[in-house]
Amino acid sequence: MNTRRDRWGTWRALGAAVVVACTATAAHADAQLAADKGCYNCHGTPPKKNAPTFAQLAADYAKYRGDDGAVRQLADKLRSGSIFGHIDAHERLSATDAERLVRWIVDGAPPS
Ligand code: HEC
Repeated sequence: MNTRRDRWGTWRALGAAVVVACTATAAHADAQLAADKGCYNCHGTPPKKNAPTFAQLAADYAKYRGDDGAVRQLADKLRSGSIFGHIDAHERLSATDAERLVRWIVDGAPPS
């Protein structure tokens, strides 16, 4: 009797662990890209000077969730740099990386 209940408990725990591991891995790869590109130097906690933290940006950008057009526009805006002054880390991004990072922020950018 007991063993049976234990087995179900184990399977449920395993299933939950797999779900968590998958989402965490995708987000982790993007967080790693952000780290590689030096984004956390300014957007980490505490942020540098007047840079918003990724958590603040994620709160601002949450309204664009599911809106691919907006993600592309934000990525272009970030790379063009004209609005934000010159931030090398923004302007050096490839179109692909910029879009990936903006999408990551829009999706909630978990803190590193
Ligand atoms: C040298 C510091 C610095 C680095 C490095 C940096 N940023 Fe920024 N970032 C800023 C500052 C400062 C602002 C706010 C500028 C403003 O709002 O005028 C900003 C704003 C932003 C915004 C908001 C733009 C908007 O729509 O308001 C995003 C998104 C962003 N950064 C993403 C990134 C990403 C992704 C990286 C890594 C590739 C990165 N930043 C690296 C300083 C930095």
